[in-house]
Amino acid sequence: MKSVKEFISGPAFRLLGYRPQRVSVDAWDREYRDGDWKYLESIGSIAGQASILGYVQFLKPDTVLDVGCGAGVLAGKLKVLPFKSLLGVDISAEAIAQANAAFADGRTSFAVSDADGFETDRTFDMIIFNQCMYYLPDPRATLRHYMRFLKPNGRVLVSMCDSARTRAMWPLLEREMAVEDAMTFAQSEGRGTTKVFKP
Ligand SMILES: C[S@@+](CC[C@H](N)C(=O)[O-])C[C@H]1O[C@@H](n2cnc3c(N)ncnc32)[C@H](O)[C@@H]1O
Repeated sequence: MKSVKEFISGPAFRLLGYRPQRVSVDAWDREYRDGDWKYLESIGSIAGQASILGYVQFLKPDTVLDVGCGAGVLAGKLKVLPFKSLLGVDISAEAIAQANAAFADGRTSFAVSDADGFETDRTFDMIIFNQCMYYLPDPRATLRHYMRFLKPNGRVLVSMCDSARTRAMWPLLEREMAVEDAMTFAQSEGRGTTKVFKP
């Protein structure tokens, strides 16, 4: 059954278009310190992560950028794969401290950065946005920004829970890049979709 929030927000997003979910950096830090995001490590969040794991295993990137990586839960799952390097970036210093403590190693590193302010002279075979795109103010501009860091024939993976907000966002992303494949999943934490974009 549709929640009351979805019932109200559905028409609002259809009328007004995509609006980000606004959360301050202080709130992110506090939530990570308080363990509010620990559920991302639970069995109820596996399906979405498994969809990404499957695509990464299939596409075999050497170099991976995980934007909005949080405490590195996805990086921890991807460790079974033979990538050469994975860089995770997140706006929360607390999340990055936890990611470094749990998952940093010779090929996996993490850094604090606002997604839209991220700069590097490196390029990547795969750029992942797992459950973070709907916090960003202008997802189309974000995708354009990250095209500079994508190697030729690279892929962008976007995974998002299903909501009125994300339903308003997918068409914006699809105006920027072609969808090569998509997987929908249903898990205890809700339904969602992972899409593989090709420039
Ligand atoms: C729902 S959590 C998902 C974390 C991680 N991708 C995972 O699946 O475990 C959303 C993450 O987006 C990050 N985030 C939100 N706004 C951001 C921004 N402007 N730049 C970078 N990261 C951001 C938050 O700090 C948080 O870690």
